[in-house]
Amino acid sequence: MCGIIGYTGHRNVQEVILKALETLEYRGYDSAGMALAYADGALEVAKRAGKVAKLRAMCEKQSAGSGKKAAVSGIGHTRWATHGGVTDENAHPHTCGRVTLVHNGIIENYQELTAKYGLGEKLVSQTDTEVVAALLDHFYEKDAKTAIREVARLLKGTFALGILFADQPEKLYAIRNVSPIIAGVGKDGREAFLASDVTALSEYVAEYFVVPEDTLTILEAGKITLLDNENQRVEPDFLQVDWKLGGNGKNGYEFFMEKEIAEQPEVIRETISCRCKDGMPDLSIDNIPDWLLSKYERITIIGCGTAMHAGLVAKQFMQPLLQLPVTVEVASEFIYEEPVVDDKTFVIAISQSGETIDTLEALRYARRRGAGNLSIVNVKGSTIARESEYVLYTNAGPEIAVASTKAYTTQLTALYMIICRMAYVRGVYTAKQAKEFVSALLQVPACVEKVIADKESLRRISHEIMDASDVFMIGRGLDYTALLEGSLKLKEISYIHSEAYASGELKHGTIALITQKTPVITLVTQTKVVSKELSNAIEVKARGAKVYVLTSEKVELEEPGQWENVYRLPALRDEFMVFPAAAALQLIAFYVSRDKGLDVDKPRNLAKVVTVE
Ligand code: M6R
Repeated sequence: MCGIIGYTGHRNVQEVILKALETLEYRGYDSAGMALAYADGALEVAKRAGKVAKLRAMCEKQSAGSGKKAAVSGIGHTRWATHGGVTDENAHPHTCGRVTLVHNGIIENYQELTAKYGLGEKLVSQTDTEVVAALLDHFYEKDAKTAIREVARLLKGTFALGILFADQPEKLYAIRNVSPIIAGVGKDGREAFLASDVTALSEYVAEYFVVPEDTLTILEAGKITLLDNENQRVEPDFLQVDWKLGGNGKNGYEFFMEKEIAEQPEVIRETISCRCKDGMPDLSIDNIPDWLLSKYERITIIGCGTAMHAGLVAKQFMQPLLQLPVTVEVASEFIYEEPVVDDKTFVIAISQSGETIDTLEALRYARRRGAGNLSIVNVKGSTIARESEYVLYTNAGPEIAVASTKAYTTQLTALYMIICRMAYVRGVYTAKQAKEFVSALLQVPACVEKVIADKESLRRISHEIMDASDVFMIGRGLDYTALLEGSLKLKEISYIHSEAYASGELKHGTIALITQKTPVITLVTQTKVVSKELSNAIEVKARGAKVYVLTSEKVELEEPGQWENVYRLPALRDEFMVFPAAAALQLIAFYVSRDKGLDVDKPRNLAKVVTVE
C-alpha cells in the first residue's frame, strides 16, 4: 500500500516523479504528493487528496511559465490512507523543520513517540508518518546517518522511508523495515532512483536491488551507498529488469484489466512451457527438488483474496489425487487459529505481490514451526520470495489492475504443475499419466483464447445483470471454488453485492434471499456433480431467479428448453475447466464495471499491494 519514488539526477525531476507516481498509483490512490529540492536549499511541496492526475494538473499550473531553476532531486508518494482521513493535509510528503519524507507502512507507536518527545505542537496532520519527520528533525544535528539510525531504532511497525534533508538537496536517504523499496542507478550512470517497485523504474535502469532491511541507503546522482549499522558498506544483490511497461503500459487497451485478461493465454503458456521437459513437469528451473514434493504428510495452502481462491481450487484436485490432507487458510486468520503446523507440514504460500503482510506473517509462523515451504510468487525479489524456502515465480509479468486476473490463472497453472510433479514423485502418476496431464494443460491457453474472442456474448450477460443489487453464483466442488473468485471480481470492481455459494448449502438459509429476477450464475462443468448442480439451479429458478448456466460444451443438459440463458465454455478435462470459467467471469465483471462508467483498474477503497494487517 502506498507508492514511493525518489530521484536525484539531471532530468526534469517533477516529470520523473509524476510519471513514476502514475505508474505506482495502483498501490494506493487516496492522495498524491511530491517534494522538489533545489541546489540552494529551497524546497517545494505539492500534495493533494485524489488521484495523481489532480497532482499533475496542480503542478503543471504552478510551473507554467514560471521560468524556475531546475530541481536537483525529489521524492513522491501515492497514498492508501491508514492513519488520518483522505485530506490534503494528510497527503505525503510530510515536512518538519529541515526534514521532508514519504512513508509506506504503519508506525504503531507514533502516539507514544509524540508524547515522549513532545512533538505534538509540531504536527499538523493526523498521520503516523508526520511523527517520523518530527523525530528526525529532533535528532538531526549534523549527521543525517546518525539521526536516521536513531529514529529507525525507535520505530515500531513497518516502514519504507524516502527522506530529503533541506541542507543536502542533492542526496536522498532511505531505510526500511518489512515494507519494500528498491533502488538503482540510471543507465547513463548520472542519476539514481528509489521506488516501491520495479514498474516505476523499468524505463530508466537496467538493474536494481531490493534495499536490505535496516540498511541505510544514500542516493546521489550516479551513485548509491549502502551502510550497515557499523557503517560498513553492504554490497547489494542485483536483479535484472525484465518487466517493461512501455508507453502508458496499456498496449492500446482502455484499461489494464482488459489487457491483463487478454494476456492470459500467453502467460499461462509460458508458466507451463518453461517447466516442461520432454513432456514431463520439471521444476528444476525453480531449483525445486523432488524430495520437497515427496516428504511431507499434509499440505497447508495460505494466501489472501484471489491467491487464497487459487489454493481452494487446487485443493479440489490435489487432495483426492494425492490422498493427503490439504487445508487452505485465509492468511490473516491463520496464526490466530493455532493451526496444526509442524515439520510434517508442507506450506504453500501464494502471493502475486510477494508483499502481502498477512501472508508473510503466516509464512513466518509456519516456518518457525518447522514446516517445509514452497511459495508461488509473481514479483521477483519480493519479501515473501526472499523469506521462502523455495520459490516458484509465475510468469504473469506486471499486473497493474487492482483486480487480479492473470496472476490468478498463472498461480493455478503453477499449482497444477506442482501437483503433477508431486503425483509423479509420489508414485501416484506414471510418467505416461504425468505427460498426458501436462499435454492436456497445454490446451488451456487456446481454450482461454476462445473465451476471450467471444467476449461480446459475455458482455450481453453483463448488461443483463448490471443493474442488479445482488448477484449469486452457485456451484459445487471445483465449480464452487472457481465462483468464489468470479464473485470477488464482480463485487470488487462493479460494487454489486455478490455471493458465491456451495449450491447444496443454499437451502439451509441463503435461498431466502432469492426473489423474482435475482440473477444467479451457476457454473456446471464437473461431471461428477452436474446433475446435483442443475437440480440446485432448478430450486432457485422455482423461486423466481433468473438463472445463467455457464457450462462446458461437453455437458448434456437434460430438458435444455428449461434454461433460457446458457453459455457454453470450450471443453477441457474437468480439473482445467476453472481456466475458461475464470476468463468468462472476469470478462463479465469487467464489462459491468466499464459499462457502468467505473474506474475498472482502481476500484474504490482498495490498493493493489496490501502491506497492512
Ligand atoms: O499480492 P497478493 O496475491 O498477496 O494479494 C492478495 C490479495 O490482496 C489479492 O489477490 C486481492 O484479493 C485482489 N485484488 C483481488 O482481485
